[in-house]
Amino acid sequence: MRGSAAYRRRAIAATLESALERIADGTEARGLEIAPVLLETPAPSRPPKPFHGTIETTINGHLSRLHDASHKSLLDALRDEAGLTGAKEGCAEGECGACTVWLDGRAVMSCLVPAPQAHGGEVVTIEGLASSVELHPLQQAFIDNAAVQCGFCIPGMLMAGAKLLDERPDCSLDEAQVAISGNICRCTGYKKILAAMLDASEAIVERAEPLEVSA
Ligand code: FES
Ligand code: FES
Repeated sequence: MRGSAAYRRRAIAATLESALERIADGTEARGLEIAPVLLETPAPSRPPKPFHGTIETTINGHLSRLHDASHKSLLDALRDEAGLTGAKEGCAEGECGACTVWLDGRAVMSCLVPAPQAHGGEVVTIEGLASSVELHPLQQAFIDNAAVQCGFCIPGMLMAGAKLLDERPDCSLDEAQVAISGNICRCTGYKKILAAMLDASEAIVERAEPLEVSA
């Protein structure tokens, strides 16, 4: 993306050539995941809701009316209008993932989503990830693994990671890596973050297993 125009032209030509060769050979699906990580879980379908300038959306379980956000990104609407500053603006162009929230069951980069897209929908932000009684297992695992330094990327990492754990509670390291491939950390590095994701996965699976009843 940041290469020169000449580099990108050559890269596109090479990619296209390779794609056409694979199609011609019938091997275009080789190496593709059969069930790729999508970072989405089923959400109730919502009928279109007439929009008259005020965004009505459920945020972290509460109905919110955002009166002055129709021209904003979802990230700005959440931060400026709803007062939820957990999602961060790192790049504002879809590269860093610091702004990740859930919209209708899907992890999205809220800096790229026009706020009116949330009208009639359901948003979950980092402020809504923990239950009223305990942290989400992934939040706890981040603490236990010291998987944080400055913290700027962490809300996005948690929202992407927690969505993976909803989608695949028993996730593999590969899947964890894919899940946070859109999230950039500038200081902690990824080792502890991935370790925390696998620990949380283990905790969730253990919790879901039926208890053995001794005779
Ligand atoms: S602020 Fe949205 S991806 Fe960086
Ligand atoms: S903890 Fe600082 S950017 Fe990730």
